[in-house]
Amino acid sequence: MPAFSVITFGCQMNSHDSDRLSEVLIAAGYSRTESLDAADVVLLNTCSVREKAEQKLRSEVGRLGLLKRERPGLLIGVAGCVAQQEGERLIKTLPQIDIVIGPDNISELPQLLARAEAGSPPQVRTQFDLDAPEFLQARPEPGKVTPTAFVTVMKGCDERCSYCVVPYTRGPERYRPSQEILAEIERLVAAGVREVTLLGQTVNSYQDPSAQLPKAPPATLQFRHAPHLRVNEAETEFPALLHAIAARVPGLKRLRYTSPHPRHLTSSLIAAHTELAVLAKHVHMPVQSGSDRLLKKMIRRYSAEEYVERVSALRDAVPGLTLSTDVIVGFPSETEEDFAATLELVKAVGFVGLFGFKYSPRPHTPSLKLADDVPEVEKSRRLAALFEVVEQARVANLLSLIGSTQQVLVEGLNQRGGYTGRTLRNEIVHFWAKTSPVGEICDVRILRAFKNSLAAELIEPARHVAWHDQKVQAAPRALPVM
Ligand code: 5AD
Ligand code: SF4
Repeated sequence: MPAFSVITFGCQMNSHDSDRLSEVLIAAGYSRTESLDAADVVLLNTCSVREKAEQKLRSEVGRLGLLKRERPGLLIGVAGCVAQQEGERLIKTLPQIDIVIGPDNISELPQLLARAEAGSPPQVRTQFDLDAPEFLQARPEPGKVTPTAFVTVMKGCDERCSYCVVPYTRGPERYRPSQEILAEIERLVAAGVREVTLLGQTVNSYQDPSAQLPKAPPATLQFRHAPHLRVNEAETEFPALLHAIAARVPGLKRLRYTSPHPRHLTSSLIAAHTELAVLAKHVHMPVQSGSDRLLKKMIRRYSAEEYVERVSALRDAVPGLTLSTDVIVGFPSETEEDFAATLELVKAVGFVGLFGFKYSPRPHTPSLKLADDVPEVEKSRRLAALFEVVEQARVANLLSLIGSTQQVLVEGLNQRGGYTGRTLRNEIVHFWAKTSPVGEICDVRILRAFKNSLAAELIEPARHVAWHDQKVQAAPRALPVM
């Protein structure tokens, strides 16, 4: 049985695609290996959102090329966004590569590999499935079901933010029929999944192509967008999808989604947060900048005030909800004043998590024609300033939870042999237990706050192990707080 290994770069969407790549190969008779030495096929699932990920691909192919010299039968495949973006160019500049395969062509991988094994020259498949979009079903291996899973609801992006290569590498928006989404969540929950994160580039712009989704109940919340806000309530069926999932899959304990676009944070979506107990009390919503001048240049289609207004309405409706965001620093022409506005917004909202990125000019993007004129050191300084502000808010949030009781969905073991899970918001919690609570929602009392996570004790007496009995000397290695 030939063996394959997948190396993943980039975002959650990409890790999700890596799982689909693996499942397609397992179904075709391949076995998975973590060891490159044992692999007959190595797939690099790439990201091109920022330049660094692309450089990483090139050095990784170089490294694999050395292995290939020793074992000429080794096949190297490049999948994901760089594959889509570069296509033929990749095999011209990196002759070690045998297969280049775009995100919409994953199911064709076994055929391409069969041809490569038979000695075919390098092959490139990067065709978008515009007419009949395909959403590969998750097929978790028996015994490998985790308490949390991702479910794709849409792919591609129509926003065309001026800096972003995604509309080019992932194509236009295509939505998955609601019945397919519901059936997949039902199957996952029946297999043991407790929490689902709905995935999409602008997940809350979802519309059901099969028109089978019942309308969301009329919003009980009387939130009204200010007249100047360009919000179209009828534009998205995402709140209706959330309602349908909650009604159809009662065994699902938690529901998250990522990433929403601020433009589609409608009052029905805010109302859904107040009506559906299954929805997490945490939202990750990219803001990118707090300067209206830059938001315009970025083609984000909202103002800083609109963003703040919408997240404030969400937070008023759902007390205790926490927020995290993405910010780009050093977008072309970003002045000290623009950055001050971003810092101001980040402080005002009180994000507890932030992914900060230095602007990186990407091929095929409108902002490529603007000069990348903010010096690297200045980009680093701005990022550091943002991280400092968010760290303060994160620590304050974690400290405020000491002494409280939280419901933690236990995801697995931590580095010290204890257990780790997440609260309904998104705080990471470590605790000890006599018997495995993985997959359960446990009541815990918060004892201590670390930099990125919390220590707690299990409230259930029979399984309780006191935190201080474990002689923990240092904070557990922090998991990213996202
Ligand atoms: N440069 C820097 N950051 C970028 N992102 C997207 N494109 C770029 C770029 N050209 C960031 C945005 C987005 C996240 C996934 O990556 O913040 O939300
Ligand atoms: Fe890129 Fe903007 Fe689409 Fe997000 S919304 S994927 S940043 S184009």
